[in-house]
Amino acid sequence: MRALADRMGRIGESVTSATTAKAKALRDAGHHVINFAAGELDAGSPPSAGAAAAAAAHHERLHHYGPQSGLPELRQAVAEHLDPGDGSVRAENVLITSGTKQAVFHAIFALIGPGDDVLLPAPYWTSYPSMIHLAGGTPVEVFAGWEHGFKVDVDMLERAATDRTKMLIFTSPANPTGALYSPDETRAIGEWAARRGIAVLSDEIYDRLVFSPHHFQSIADLVPELRDRCLRTGGVGKSFAMTGWRIGWLTGSATLIRSIGALQSHTTGHPSNIAQAATLAVIQNGESDWLAKTRESLDRRRQTMLDGLRAIPGLVCLEPAGAFYVFPSVEAYLGKEVAGRQVSSSLELAEILLTEAQVAVIAGEAFGAPGYLRLSYALDDTDLAEGIDRISRLLTTSRPFGVK
Ligand SMILES: Cc1ncc(COP(=O)(O)O)c(C=O)c1O
Repeated sequence: MRALADRMGRIGESVTSATTAKAKALRDAGHHVINFAAGELDAGSPPSAGAAAAAAAHHERLHHYGPQSGLPELRQAVAEHLDPGDGSVRAENVLITSGTKQAVFHAIFALIGPGDDVLLPAPYWTSYPSMIHLAGGTPVEVFAGWEHGFKVDVDMLERAATDRTKMLIFTSPANPTGALYSPDETRAIGEWAARRGIAVLSDEIYDRLVFSPHHFQSIADLVPELRDRCLRTGGVGKSFAMTGWRIGWLTGSATLIRSIGALQSHTTGHPSNIAQAATLAVIQNGESDWLAKTRESLDRRRQTMLDGLRAIPGLVCLEPAGAFYVFPSVEAYLGKEVAGRQVSSSLELAEILLTEAQVAVIAGEAFGAPGYLRLSYALDDTDLAEGIDRISRLLTTSRPFGVK
């Protein structure tokens, strides 16, 4: 008898984790690895998080089980934070989860089953297909490369939709591309989904990491008729450097949130009360100065990264409007020789960059986009400059274009 259930055959180890493990092994062996692979900010969390957690640790009420859908005061604070001003988001519309990943998984697991298709714009965040498979559904990828600004449109979605289509995953700003849909683009897609009766899972984890002059608007607010069939996920991990606290949220109609709350109560239960208290402090505080400084420093590094990568012949690198990644096309280097090795895929190029230049990047294959690499620019200025220089030297001294 096989030890594992069939469903485990539908998922594998993520490319992201494998790269991180290899980079760590090199670091442990004494190499100075430049890490462009991380999916988080390089700062500590706002001090209000630590202070609130320390205080919460002494509250006996918080030592015990709490409400399975999250602390009422945090549900209320998240509702106030997300409500567009018309009272459409209330505490009953909010479920507090152990990280945004759990919110996404709960949403997919609760709505998708065998026979259901999920439209998945690619490049996509690496975990979506696995989650859809685990739920028994089928991901239907809709690819939009750099020529499309990494954004799908209604025509592309319409061509991919069938009567099995139950959900669209919509991530803006996106991981791995940093692409942000404009309000008009968002509205068009939301109205199409509402017309077609398709549920939308709007993953808004990068909502506060958007660079001027762009701004974020939720699809649920732009298309009110979608609200009943729209689930939004978000959290404090990315924007407030709080990935380790593991707090996220899911919002949607009170009926859906009640059902998904039942799912949570039978699986993980509520997240840690201490981490919830820390999150409450950060949300109530607003941390606008912290956020402004973070965006400003990311914006500066985004420019350094773009200037550096665009100076390397053959790389095509769009300017991302949000998050903290760039997603250059390395198509020009495929089929060429780099560091004495023939490169046939971006996966191989990422491996060569790691072993020959000690630079960790994530291959586009992890995101349904072979031919690209994902690089985070949330690292210190010295490492950023050094990393770009190493990539440039490795690629250009290999003379992939036959240039002498
Ligand atoms: C688009 C997207 N959604 C969800 C997550 C999961 O976030 P968390 O760390 O809060 O679970 C990530 C993390 O990389 C992400 O990029």
